[in-house]
Amino acid sequence: MTYVEALEKLEKWGQTHVLQYFDELTQDKQQELLTQIEETDFSVVESCKHKEELNKKGVISPLAAMELPEIQACADSFRETGLEAIKAGKVGAVLLAGGMGTRLGSDDPKGMYNIGLTKDVYIFERLIVNLMEVVKQAEAWVPLFIMTSDKNKEATEKFLKEHDFFGYNKEFVWFFKQDMAPASDYEGKVYMEEKWKMSTSPNGNGGWYSSMEKGGINQIVHEKGIEWLNVFAVDNVLQRIADPVFVGATIQKKCAVGAKVVRKNAPDEKVGVMCLEDGRPSIVEYYELTEELMNAKDEKGEPAYNFGVILNYLFREADLKAMLDKKLPLHVVEKKIPYINQDLEYVKPEEPNGYKFEGLVLDMIHQMDSCLPFEVVREKEFAPIKNKTGVDSVESARALLAANGVQL
Ligand code: UTP
Repeated sequence: MTYVEALEKLEKWGQTHVLQYFDELTQDKQQELLTQIEETDFSVVESCKHKEELNKKGVISPLAAMELPEIQACADSFRETGLEAIKAGKVGAVLLAGGMGTRLGSDDPKGMYNIGLTKDVYIFERLIVNLMEVVKQAEAWVPLFIMTSDKNKEATEKFLKEHDFFGYNKEFVWFFKQDMAPASDYEGKVYMEEKWKMSTSPNGNGGWYSSMEKGGINQIVHEKGIEWLNVFAVDNVLQRIADPVFVGATIQKKCAVGAKVVRKNAPDEKVGVMCLEDGRPSIVEYYELTEELMNAKDEKGEPAYNFGVILNYLFREADLKAMLDKKLPLHVVEKKIPYINQDLEYVKPEEPNGYKFEGLVLDMIHQMDSCLPFEVVREKEFAPIKNKTGVDSVESARALLAANGVQL
């Protein structure tokens, strides 16, 4: 793209400040910036100007979950079906590790965080140990696909290689990279991170499947005959991955997707809840849940929207292909965005200072024809690490790990 073309594009989107240092740059850096401008979709930034109108929900109604008593009664049969699928190589795992983990406040990828007290215990290590339990049970390696972003790819790959994948068979591990999106101030002006570079951040965890396609991973998925993909977050150190009982239940119920859920601990707990939206499976975010929905009861007199998602989904791969032609709704999220100020100082803000633009995996659920919300015991399977202290923190996760007999 030439300078003139870049200027034209930026004028269209009201972002000409991106070129303000152009004349001061070396030729290489000029080229770098022109390429970034060419590749950037500025329309996403526009969405912050009408963010109230984004993601309008349809008519919400309850979606019953498969609860613990039913799961316990059928556990043997579910486990058998699940193990059969895993042994046959039909189940893969997708680790979403492209996020920036800004709330945790570490510069390293979140998975590299050491939560040990008397010895090193890394978040990545905990996940691998959990997955290994299934590998042992099934006597088969589960293919593991790891999503990273431009910001943490190198560090993640280096760390895992240095630690020899914590004993996982590296022949069964693949990396792929998600796309980036520009980040802006509250007026929708894109921040600059360097004179030759706009501030960008990973474009949300919703792009995982299209990024797998772009990265050639889906070809591997097809060659290997993988039929189910268990997508999971990097930060829940207690979760079970490729859990045979969950896999078996989703297969037996012939659902396009299974979603692990926990019973909410309070009506206003900050988790997205499973529901139907215009008759299709969906998730309402906690901030979208009205008083009326929060207090609604089902026919048994129980809260009707009582099961929160924990970002552990099992997708039937064949049903995901249609996703490639669809655009996920955009979420405008307030975050801390590093930038260079007028004095060209690099600023790392302590408080949110603008918007990032993200597509979310939970919006993929609404594209699926059927979903099985599958209850798990919160104290045994949900220990997310979002913050350093307080709710969903290193501290709370350590306590939960200890309660489950994990040495730290
Ligand atoms: P979070 O919503 O906790 O976001 O991600 P985050 O960016 O990691 O953390 P904060 O909000 O800045 O503190 C939930 C899961 O989705 C992944 C994360 O790595 C985590 O496993 N994720 C998030 C991605 O893979 N890509 C993204 O762009 C965002």
